[in-house]
Amino acid sequence: MSISEQARAELAELAGRYPVARSALLPMLHLVQSEEGYVSPEGIAACAETLGLSTAEVAAVSTFYTMYKRRPAGKHHVGVCTNTLCALLGGDAVWEAVRERAGADHDEVSPDGLFDLERIECQAACTHAPVMTVDWEFFDRTTPAQAVEVLDRLAAGEEVRSTRGPVVRGFRAAERTISGIDDDGLAGDGPNADDLMLATLHAAAERGVGPADGGPAAPSAAVEGRPQA
Ligand code: FES
Repeated sequence: MSISEQARAELAELAGRYPVARSALLPMLHLVQSEEGYVSPEGIAACAETLGLSTAEVAAVSTFYTMYKRRPAGKHHVGVCTNTLCALLGGDAVWEAVRERAGADHDEVSPDGLFDLERIECQAACTHAPVMTVDWEFFDRTTPAQAVEVLDRLAAGEEVRSTRGPVVRGFRAAERTISGIDDDGLAGDGPNADDLMLATLHAAAERGVGPADGGPAAPSAAVEGRPQA
């Protein structure tokens, strides 16, 4: 598939946002995924051309990170955290249920093309373990049955909201948002840090424990002022 003129213009726009253009490569690769459904050879060439890099340099970056797909992705990316805390609290069982429902394994797309499965690393959401993400929206404290229900509802074409509020929109739409080219008004969608996430900061503040440099231990007003889950 060829890269559209609009996409090329948006790649150039992203490159122009940074003092050193090549710093834009990671968001540019997300934009390529939103256009192509994966990091295609054409997308690699477009990034290389925009940044004055070789295709080998762009490919070296894109193949380093698991978030960049080397083959066409499924309609929805489904991640199940199986790192220590999630695994202990049921993540392995969630993964098995999702794997069985989708009929696919790690880094595979389900036969119907709907679900792209990945055992993901810790999502810094251990307070809400076990977590599943769909198109990088969180499903907190998920059970195997709840995870399968999410996939069933997506397969039926129903609107599905993450447990934090935002609607699951599909892999390509999520990739466009992540690229930063246009947040579709979603930058403030959903909660930020909730009480559970801030619990250790509050506990430290109550005990007068601060950072080594003597700075404030309490959560900042900027963080505390954000919407709570
Ligand atoms: S171990 Fe799963 S979010 Fe941290």
